[in-house]
Amino acid sequence: MNRYLINGKQRLEGQITTSGSKNASLPLLAATLLGMGESTLKKIPRLSDVEHMVQVLKSLGAKVEDDGETLSIDARVLTGISVSEECMRQMRASNLILGPLLARLGEARIPLPGGCRIGSRPMDQHLKGLAALGVDIQETHGYIEAKVKRMRGADIYFDVPSVGATENLMMAAMGADGTTLLHNAAREPEIIDLQNMLTAMGGKIIGAGTATIRIEGRQPLWGTEYTVIPDRIEAGTHMLAAVMTQGDLEIDNVIPEHMSPIIAKTKQCGAEVTVNNSSIRVKHTGAINPMEIKTLSYPGFPTDMQPQFMALMTLAQGTSVVTETIFENRFQHVDELRRMGAKISVEGRSAIVHGVERLEGAFVEATDLRAGAALFLAALAAEEASVLQNIEYIFRGYEKLEEKYQAVGGKLQRMV
Ligand code: UD1
Repeated sequence: MNRYLINGKQRLEGQITTSGSKNASLPLLAATLLGMGESTLKKIPRLSDVEHMVQVLKSLGAKVEDDGETLSIDARVLTGISVSEECMRQMRASNLILGPLLARLGEARIPLPGGCRIGSRPMDQHLKGLAALGVDIQETHGYIEAKVKRMRGADIYFDVPSVGATENLMMAAMGADGTTLLHNAAREPEIIDLQNMLTAMGGKIIGAGTATIRIEGRQPLWGTEYTVIPDRIEAGTHMLAAVMTQGDLEIDNVIPEHMSPIIAKTKQCGAEVTVNNSSIRVKHTGAINPMEIKTLSYPGFPTDMQPQFMALMTLAQGTSVVTETIFENRFQHVDELRRMGAKISVEGRSAIVHGVERLEGAFVEATDLRAGAALFLAALAAEEASVLQNIEYIFRGYEKLEEKYQAVGGKLQRMV
């Protein structure tokens, strides 16, 4: 396991460029399975999750080339229908191949998703939607086996606006006869990105970004060239790094409209936030205001920023309340933040954070990706040095993290 040694209390100043969105890249990669031609994807971040999805595509027979700048995927010939248990264990989003494989081959097989560190994360909405399209779903020997001769369009209502289920059904419906309507769909920017790519491939789909998405299936789909959107969660994490180090960072390659709840909350904590066309500057000196945060589906406050904001709140002047409504077990960073001197108590789905004057350096451990990001931020702000363990989790979502932070004055190094 790799570790970071981080010397805290270094003021960060300068420019940081946000990489392409991880959560948009994964469905875009899965969508290449639908095309009868090569697709070229640009600005895909080179992260372990992306590497896992590439391995999944290769295991299905797709040819993948990476020239460092672009990823080219040719999925004209597919030879597999299954995701291995190892792939699923490494990355839950491997389940995104269900929709495109059913559209292409009428068959797909994935291991049943097990428990996940941030909650149970069921797949019932994915499976309910697929069943409505006429897919036969069997659970045998720990696998979900999905088969269909010909899918037919349907009206599908999601009980919860699930990002993954919306994406899976958008891709599956590409292969269904007639019209599919997805109601109570998730509205995240990553879903609009997927719609844009499907449209560029020749698909007929509208409505992404609203609660209803309409797909006209069985259009011929080809390869395309597509550039992924910037990662709003990475950008948000950099914004908080500026606040927590009393710094001044210009964060490039962002789409500010995707970040409104993060921008609003960063302003509320007292930081000076200047929003430009494709960059955001965050500057902060002085006290951090306490606040209330409640995670919700987009355009509400993103659960993927909850741990990082909690790290920020540990240093606020007063008491904050952080309520997590999306995942039931997403407070694993609390114990680790306490090791650094944070005063946090958890009551059900809320964490009460009593701001302290200073965080102390400590040995802490990332337990998942965003918990790791929260501890990274806390260590940047802490008085002394910290050792952050299990940073493999952080590499799932943050590209070139140490290069980016060293360039703006961060004092951190990787230790094996
Ligand atoms: C995606 C993101 C993840 C983010 C999450 C919520 C990717 C690769 N990951 O995950 O970073 O934290 O959205 O914004 O894009 N649910 C069900 N049944 C289902 C599916 C989901 O009950 O069939 C529930 C989940 O348990 C959770 C909520 O719906 O409570 C949202 O989950 P979902 O939007 O599906 O998250 P993911 O797509 O897994």
